[in-house]
Amino acid sequence: MEHQIDVMISEEKVDARICELAQQISEDYAGKELHLIVILKGSVFFACELAKRITVPVTMDFMSVSSYGNGMVSAGHITVKKELDEDIEGKDVIIVEDIVDSGNTLFHLRNLLEGRNPASLKIITLLDKPDRRVTDVITDYCGFEIPDEFVVGYGLDYAQKYRNLPYIGVVKA
Ligand code: IMP
Ligand code: MG
Repeated sequence: MEHQIDVMISEEKVDARICELAQQISEDYAGKELHLIVILKGSVFFACELAKRITVPVTMDFMSVSSYGNGMVSAGHITVKKELDEDIEGKDVIIVEDIVDSGNTLFHLRNLLEGRNPASLKIITLLDKPDRRVTDVITDYCGFEIPDEFVVGYGLDYAQKYRNLPYIGVVKA
């Protein structure tokens, strides 16, 4: 079934904001090396665009955790489906997330990764839905705060579809 999708944030606006975030990160991590942990699958598009524009040396690793099934409601906990390939001890790490909704995913993930003794651990998210937060997880860098609507595109899916849309759109029922 196809859905009607309205543009919420245009491709140009997303790209421009990612450039700003990359510049900020490059300044904040000047003289350091940065290890990006990309949360599959939704964050991949964002992470690539971001990484390409960061000017300090970057390494990347990938992790898959699940909190959502194919629907629109959070299960309230996470399961690690794909572990990191590399140790993060002593590294300056940023978790790259597509969207923070309830905050459950990042709350559990931050605790898990803090326990592995990185030199530092920050979070960047492309999108934040602050109205939906049920945990007190703090994001260090955020692309856009958006209202409580289910969005797709730029990596975000609805039942695995629409990740390849180049803009952020709202799914109409
Ligand atoms: P949280 O644990 O409730 O913060 O949910 C975070 C995860 O839920 C995100 O990484 C997304 O995979 C998914 N998610 C939350 N809101 C949306 C949305 O509006 N569109 C697509 N995926 C979403
Ligand atoms: Mg996700």
